[in-house]
Amino acid sequence: MRTETEHTIYLKDYAPTPYFIDRVELEVEIAPEKSVIHALLHVVPREGTEPGTPLVLDGDELLLNSVAIDGAPLGLLAYEVTPSSLTINEPPLRRFVLETTVTIEPEKNTRLMGFYRSNGTWCTQCEPEGFRRITYYLDRPDNLATFNVTMIADKALAPVLLANGNPAGSGELENGKHFAVWEDPHPKPSYLFAMVAGDLGAIHDSFTTTSGKEVALAIYCEHGKEDRCLYAMDALKRSMAWDERRFGLEYDLDVFNIVAVSDFNFGAMENKGLNIFNDRLVFAIPETATDADYDNVERVIAHEYFHNWTGDRVTCRDWFQLCLKEGLTVYRDQEFSSDERSRPVKRIEDVRLLRSAQFVEDGGPLAHPPRPDHYREINNFYTTTVYEKGAEVVRMLATMLGREGFRKGMDLYFERHDGQAATIEDFVAAFADSAGVNLDQFIHWYLQAGTPQVAISDEYDAASQTYKLKLTQKTDPTPGQPDKRAMVIPVRFGLIGPNGSPMGWSKVSGGKVEGDLIIFETDAMELTFEGIANRPVPSLLREFSAPVKLTTSLSAEDQLFLARHDSDPFNRWQALQTVATGILLDAVRAGGKLTDASRVEALADALRETIEGGSGDDAFKALTLSMPTEDNIAQAIGQNVDPLAIHEARGALRKAIAQRLQDRLVLTYNALADDSPFSTAQAATQRRALRNACLTQLVASGTDEAFALAEAHYRGATNMTDRMAALSALVHANAPMAQALLGDFRTLYTADPLVLDKWLSLSAQVPDAGTLDRIKAILADPTFPRNNPNRLRSLVGSFANANPVQFAQPDGSGFRFVTEFVADVDKRNPQVAARVLTAFRIWRNYEPQRRAAAESALRSLEESGTLSRNTADILGRTLA
Ligand code: ARG
Ligand code: ZN
Repeated sequence: MRTETEHTIYLKDYAPTPYFIDRVELEVEIAPEKSVIHALLHVVPREGTEPGTPLVLDGDELLLNSVAIDGAPLGLLAYEVTPSSLTINEPPLRRFVLETTVTIEPEKNTRLMGFYRSNGTWCTQCEPEGFRRITYYLDRPDNLATFNVTMIADKALAPVLLANGNPAGSGELENGKHFAVWEDPHPKPSYLFAMVAGDLGAIHDSFTTTSGKEVALAIYCEHGKEDRCLYAMDALKRSMAWDERRFGLEYDLDVFNIVAVSDFNFGAMENKGLNIFNDRLVFAIPETATDADYDNVERVIAHEYFHNWTGDRVTCRDWFQLCLKEGLTVYRDQEFSSDERSRPVKRIEDVRLLRSAQFVEDGGPLAHPPRPDHYREINNFYTTTVYEKGAEVVRMLATMLGREGFRKGMDLYFERHDGQAATIEDFVAAFADSAGVNLDQFIHWYLQAGTPQVAISDEYDAASQTYKLKLTQKTDPTPGQPDKRAMVIPVRFGLIGPNGSPMGWSKVSGGKVEGDLIIFETDAMELTFEGIANRPVPSLLREFSAPVKLTTSLSAEDQLFLARHDSDPFNRWQALQTVATGILLDAVRAGGKLTDASRVEALADALRETIEGGSGDDAFKALTLSMPTEDNIAQAIGQNVDPLAIHEARGALRKAIAQRLQDRLVLTYNALADDSPFSTAQAATQRRALRNACLTQLVASGTDEAFALAEAHYRGATNMTDRMAALSALVHANAPMAQALLGDFRTLYTADPLVLDKWLSLSAQVPDAGTLDRIKAILADPTFPRNNPNRLRSLVGSFANANPVQFAQPDGSGFRFVTEFVADVDKRNPQVAARVLTAFRIWRNYEPQRRAAAESALRSLEESGTLSRNTADILGRTLA
């Protein structure tokens, strides 16, 4: 395999640069085809730098026009240019100004890193290493500088000129040009740099901070879509208020701008004072966005805003520390959503994501610790491990320290590191020091990959009235980490008596138990509870208090007992999932058929009770109705996976449940009908969630009546949530009218790219052998936007990640299609290509025929020519 460059970067090699830059003045002349960047970098040698030490700046696809020091042009021998650097051979050993002029071509930038053009708008993406595609720089997060940016552009093409910080001047120039100056007083690393220039619409609002500072807020977007930004603005203001309330953190500039662009490699970016978003995470109106889309807009608006403190004010020393800002900020956005909505529902949703993405990553060839110690391509480490497992690690700290203890640690972290580039060690030390606890073992959550497997069994002795819990933990080897150590695992728990109420104990021995928290930090432990009058049922890992795989000795009856009586909603949900998983594993073993009718009945009865009365809101009830996903089941099986058997087993269980609950589902469906105007209020969204879950479950029965009901639901829908729910249910059931309705949907929304994504994604998920050919036809259409990441991911990403049966066709056709797609896209946008390729991380888990087919597709990608470093890195690790 040939790749662009071979190199591995190690954490142990971290060293500060001999020079640093503390002030940047940029003048950017934006013009179609070629933009010119004139940079003044204020350079200071670090103490101890030897005379004659060269200054090495990063660069990528830059055309250097001139270079000078303190105004004097440099001779040809004084510097050296390579494709990735500019070296000043013998810079002065004092403060000086390095002046460079480079030309770049944003219109040709299909990688969407650096300065590029999306739909007419010029914009930037610099994290992690995009700034070097704008100008020569120390493009690493530990160099913090203040920035002053002057932007010059044609006023007709770009009436809006935005950069980081506060506005500091603007005016007219000759030839129809104008300029704007932006000053960012907060020292920042280059990855937080941003500029936007274009002809954009906007909505404006304001927010007054607790200390009385008025902040001007704006969201910019394509003209005509302003009304779609109102919900995002509302979410922004709620985020700002929440961060003041919960963490005492106020905003620190006069303006906060958000820009929605349509070509963006991932979700959004927290550039200081100028967040740039994938438009799918800004736009939300009932006609085009589902309730899930609204949730995502709220979540990501909050996430990027929260980065202002966790990321921007305190940033990362190097990219190994990425989860210092990402894990922490995901934790903060999760908490925000929990406070704004239903906490149990949010927790269940987050755990579902963790299990279906992070656990899979952690159990395969791409496993890495939340803080890796080496990488070839940092872009490949914006992973669910860094983000979601990183958030779980922070959550465990909060669980063990309590809400106040956690807040104290956060306060100390900001007190110590505001304005600095910090490390995971700094973060953990703030909590250890503020709480006076030792976190030396805890920190290994950041350093060790793999999901710990925790097994708990129990034993009751009536004679002595003692109850024992025996715990063991073990983590399987992961690439580069053969031997694992024990983790500090906080297990929140309760004991439930025969009548369903909580049980206390007179004494517990054998390990650390603090209130309702077991701190399990050794390979094995045996707890003895005394004064237990009856055999209790234990509720373990309440709230999913640690990111582990738990197995217990509880019977299906015990689980159903928990489903009815546990005071912890997460574990009520989990108990039903556990029972369902047991049934499904047996069914898969039997080739896709249900084997134990009475267990299925017991599960259905418990579900009925949950829907009928049960504690929990409607959204919680909706979640209990959704059975474990095909991926969840594949994970539980582990090896020799046959996706078709899983698909059939799951279909059989859903059908059996639908048949048994039919009357109840119809009643609830009808009772929840709602003809009041659309609202995003909690009660309304939860109602839609449960009603649509009932419909989806009914469709699983496969009857003509259910299909007809769903079709009517689709046609009568007055919002996208209901329309998509019906369509999606019919598509996944491969109902006879599914193709016709997909066609109808496409015609209805042909002018709306974000809704078209829903069509692309659903079309790719049809569990039918014709799907692959239909996808190929869509891609071959000359009008298909081949360079837009959202379109590509919706179509091919959904196929590879959400259509397990067709992706893993035993003849290898699905695999080959995806690897050929990756090879093609890799030439234009390596990040999108590499991300799609990660769908193969499960290839070794398939049964032999599919495994061989997957391997052969991967091998031919390896031989297909030059791959980007991004794709080569993923491919190399996947095959290793
Ligand atoms: N920092 C951004 C965020 O939190 C994401 C940047 C992703 N960058 C990347 N190269 N994948 O959401
Ligand atoms: Zn983030």
